[in-house]
Amino acid sequence: MLRSRIVGTGSAVPKKVVTNHDLEGLVDTTDAWITSRTGISERRIAVNEPCSELASRAGKAALKAADVSPKDLDLIVVGTVTPEMTFPSTACLVQAHLGVRPGATAFDVSAACSGFVYALDVADKFVKAGAHKKALVIGVDQFSRIVDWKDRSTCVLFGDGAGAIVLSAEKGARGVLSCHTHSDGRHWEMLYANGPHQSSHFDHGHHKSPYLRMHGNETFKIAVRTMGSAITEAMEANGLKGEDIDLLIPHQANLRIINAIKDRLKLPDEKLYVNLDRYGNTSAGSIPLALDEAVREGRLKENDTVLFVAFGGGFTWASAVARW
Ligand code: COA
Repeated sequence: MLRSRIVGTGSAVPKKVVTNHDLEGLVDTTDAWITSRTGISERRIAVNEPCSELASRAGKAALKAADVSPKDLDLIVVGTVTPEMTFPSTACLVQAHLGVRPGATAFDVSAACSGFVYALDVADKFVKAGAHKKALVIGVDQFSRIVDWKDRSTCVLFGDGAGAIVLSAEKGARGVLSCHTHSDGRHWEMLYANGPHQSSHFDHGHHKSPYLRMHGNETFKIAVRTMGSAITEAMEANGLKGEDIDLLIPHQANLRIINAIKDRLKLPDEKLYVNLDRYGNTSAGSIPLALDEAVREGRLKENDTVLFVAFGGGFTWASAVARW
């Protein structure tokens, strides 16, 4: 059976580190509040480094790790909701930056913090269908551009970052085993960013704000519930029990959400990858950035089972299981 195997990973974060203490000078908050409520200590903020540049750096690193030439790529799918331009897509800009073969297929997927797993699902289906042989899948976001830096309830949560993987069409047992994606648009007002190009439909009241707006408590509860159900669905689809998971890489939004999921699954700490203390919530960048760090730390060995689970605005949620 044809599968898409993850043959390389890469990531990129901006140089500028913004600590919780730095934010104390910006809004009425404290390091103690942010750390205890979220687990975040610092985040990276992009300065003069557009989304496509971060995405390209992550993509280049993944290609190098995979030992795949950009000339051999035939598909680029980027999960992002913070492209620097309305069009072209970030994927087309990455294609140009990396010198990927003209004529390849490149497009973006919009699913907020679930963007990477959605992009992976799409690319995996293209590869499995035999349409493409080598795909670059990137998750990237720069929420520093869309958060309201005067709103302490949201600006402390997010950071900028990108991660990438290279998929290769291969026969065998290793590779992506399943992807499941879901959404429920009824709750869109719980977490949204209207953006600078507002629709006239939303020209009244609070929707006029171009910034990210979130109902934190409701979002928290729905995130725990939907990520839990996404994990159950992924495990059932593959006949897996908790002990069969070698590494769980959850969307890095809040340590309390991650711990709630960990307790539900009764997973030991060593089977969970967490780096949100250093990056905050990097939206679509979060899972592939964590995956790349886990790989570089030697946390995955051949034939290990890795589970990704994501949640984001929309609401959207998604899971993927891969045999390493
Ligand atoms: N510093 C200090 N106090 C803050 C604060 C900050 N940065 N942000 C909010 N507060 C205050 C609130 O104003 C509130 O004060 P009040 O009781 O006087 O009204 C108090 O802290 C408690 O707020 P609450 O919203 O109940 O806190 P919480 O324990 O629910 O934590 C979040 C808030 C945002 C951390 C939490 O709801 C969360 O993580 N939600 C999910 C967010 C998320 O993951 N979104 C992305 C999904 S992809």
